[in-house]
Amino acid sequence: MASSMRSLFSDHGKYVESFRRFLNHSTEHQCMQEFMDKKLPGIIGRIGDTKSEIKILSIGGGAGEIDLQILSKVQAQYPGVCINNEVVEPSAEQIAKYKELVAKTSNLENVKFAWHKETSSEYQSRMLEKKELQKWDFIHMIQVNENLLISNFTSDHDLPK
Ligand SMILES: C[S@@+](CC[C@H](N)C(=O)[O-])C[C@H]1O[C@@H](n2cnc3c(N)ncnc32)[C@H](O)[C@@H]1O
Repeated sequence: MASSMRSLFSDHGKYVESFRRFLNHSTEHQCMQEFMDKKLPGIIGRIGDTKSEIKILSIGGGAGEIDLQILSKVQAQYPGVCINNEVVEPSAEQIAKYKELVAKTSNLENVKFAWHKETSSEYQSRMLEKKELQKWDFIHMIQVNENLLISNFTSDHDLPK
């Protein structure tokens, strides 16, 4: 049966507001913080010590708050190593906020940022068409609708390993 409800993705302001309310009324924020503090260091530790550059792909990076926390953990574990951080984010507003946050954050000298204003499936199709499959040391997709995860990352065209 077709739904009469409009998708939140069609109204960015409502999407951001709904997410803010969800955070205020759930333990999502505490769970994320716990993940960052307790689990993430172990995951990052498996990226490898011998790299001259660490490549990170952020799907749905939003305004960058969580991404910058991740980057600071990576920097702490691999001091001085260059980090190439690419962000796939369809919302121009979120990208603008992300860039503002980067501009006012110190200690990001060794981090190169690139933003792709597109959805994960657009990014995936573009990469497959260009046959420019890249390897990433760490891909994350945090607090992004899990249907995307299912539809985009379990298909036969899974992102390059
Ligand atoms: C709830 S926010 C989470 C932002 C950030 N990862 C965080 O944890 O703070 C979800 C983000 O996913 C983005 N998004 C929505 N649909 C997407 C898609 N199809 N592909 C990639 N990103 C998407 C939204 O624009 C939004 O910025």
